[in-house]
Amino acid sequence: MGNTYKKIFITGASTGIGRQLALDYAKDGAELWLLARSELKLNELAQEIQNSGGQAHILVCDATDEPAFLKALNIAQNESTGFDLVIANAGWGGRMYYPSDNNIQVLNQIIDLNFRAATQTLEFFAKYMVTEKHGHLVGVSSIAGFRGAPGGAAYSATKAALISYIESLRFSVKPFGVFVTDIRPGFVRTPMTDKNVVPMPFLMEVDRASQKIRRAIARKRKRFAFPWQTAVLIHLIKAAPDFFYDWVAGLALGKQAVTGRLGKSESNTSA
Ligand SMILES: NC(=O)c1ccc[n+]([C@@H]2O[C@H](COP(=O)([O-])OP(=O)(O)OC[C@H]3O[C@@H](n4cnc5c(N)ncnc54)[C@H](OP(=O)(O)O)[C@@H]3O)[C@@H](O)[C@H]2O)c1
Repeated sequence: MGNTYKKIFITGASTGIGRQLALDYAKDGAELWLLARSELKLNELAQEIQNSGGQAHILVCDATDEPAFLKALNIAQNESTGFDLVIANAGWGGRMYYPSDNNIQVLNQIIDLNFRAATQTLEFFAKYMVTEKHGHLVGVSSIAGFRGAPGGAAYSATKAALISYIESLRFSVKPFGVFVTDIRPGFVRTPMTDKNVVPMPFLMEVDRASQKIRRAIARKRKRFAFPWQTAVLIHLIKAAPDFFYDWVAGLALGKQAVTGRLGKSESNTSA
């Protein structure tokens, strides 16, 4: 797949979808700026990219630490002198139990990462891109943003909010020649979904997911939900009457849909 993006910034690049995108874009000749909290994993990834002749810079940062995060974004902008492509990918599924003393903390963490840090990433680089009249902004939301997923109240809500934000942003920056894409994955095999114990229909391998995401970005798709089977299913469920959705969610997850308890530590229903 040909790649026209020369300088690329990716959050959540240490594992899963972000890592695979980094490896694949590097193979296609892009210079990468990669942000996540795990220094070890980022270093290993950068080494792997450099060993195969690519170029990668790492930014070790917690995206929910706003001052540190904005500083890291500034460093990346200055070092790169401007990105062709920015991918706000970092996200966390979290889990919420009922009853639990921990839910407010989980809720705050998910809002801070999945919505606040994601939108800050896009907003920060939008400023430079509209000035330069060049660039492509990508947010990674989820099919879970279409309806309230059982056991994932905070996750679904932040992804729904992100979907709306990305859509609005697209209208605002379009007059400046800046493109915006909303990537809405279904289930992809990554450390996030490795923890799931619920059924994951049409689960996709991460290398295939990266290929599909990169193709959608290259085609400047406004929004891209995949795999197509999940996308069709979700659109049907979205349009379905509420009682039908309640029934399907209950069937798919049984008691978990009501209690949020999934019977395995660190499990969630994230997609
Ligand atoms: N996998 C799926 O089925 C699926 C489906 C729909 C949507 N998505 C979305 O796709 C995106 C990538 O998910 P994934 O499946 O690849 O999950 P993943 O393997 O768990 O990757 C999450 C990435 O985010 C980084 N991250 C987490 N907390 C962070 C923080 N506070 N600050 C900075 N970076 C942080 C992680 O790195 P560190 O831990 O090193 O910080 C990691 O690189 C997420 O937005 C997710 O919601 C995934």
